[in-house]
Amino acid sequence: MKGKAVVTGASSGIGAATARALSKDFIVYCAARRVDRIEALAAEIGGVAVQCDVTVPHDVARLATVVGADLDVLVNNAGGALGQDWLEKTPLDDWGRMYEINVLGAARVTQALLPALRA
Ligand SMILES: NC(=O)c1ccc[n+]([C@@H]2O[C@H](COP(=O)([O-])OP(=O)(O)OC[C@H]3O[C@@H](n4cnc5c(N)ncnc54)[C@H](OP(=O)(O)O)[C@@H]3O)[C@@H](O)[C@H]2O)c1
Repeated sequence: MKGKAVVTGASSGIGAATARALSKDFIVYCAARRVDRIEALAAEIGGVAVQCDVTVPHDVARLATVVGADLDVLVNNAGGALGQDWLEKTPLDDWGRMYEINVLGAARVTQALLPALRA
């Protein structure tokens, strides 16, 4: 029987490639904001699409509910590189947004899924 894996940021790039690779051995829960893309990917790989913004606690709680009581693999991939301009030109809000997604988002998803991972 296949195990279960969650990939955040599965709607493009590294996350989509990771979801495809994991689908050989796992039912992959494909999480991201762009639902059309994760639905197409989930249909292709026999996975489950879950619309989820990792900065929104309610979305992350729903992801945990959909995944259920047990989980084998979590890939915290959602994120990106914002605020890459020279420091004197970079709005620091870009760094704040990046921290919110890349750092707090990863922590939020991990916190929500830890009980299932431990099980
Ligand atoms: N490519 C590189 O060379 C490189 C180098 C170092 C680190 N990384 C990291 O690797 C990860 C993937 O990079 P990539 O190149 O594959 O980038 P990408 O193609 O831009 O993919 C980023 C993914 O993150 C998702 N995402 C962004 N904000 C989100 C949010 N608030 N909630 C949920 N999902 C969110 C996007 O989905 P939606 O827009 O649909 O939500 C998308 O699926 C990123 O974390 C990036 O920082 C990449």
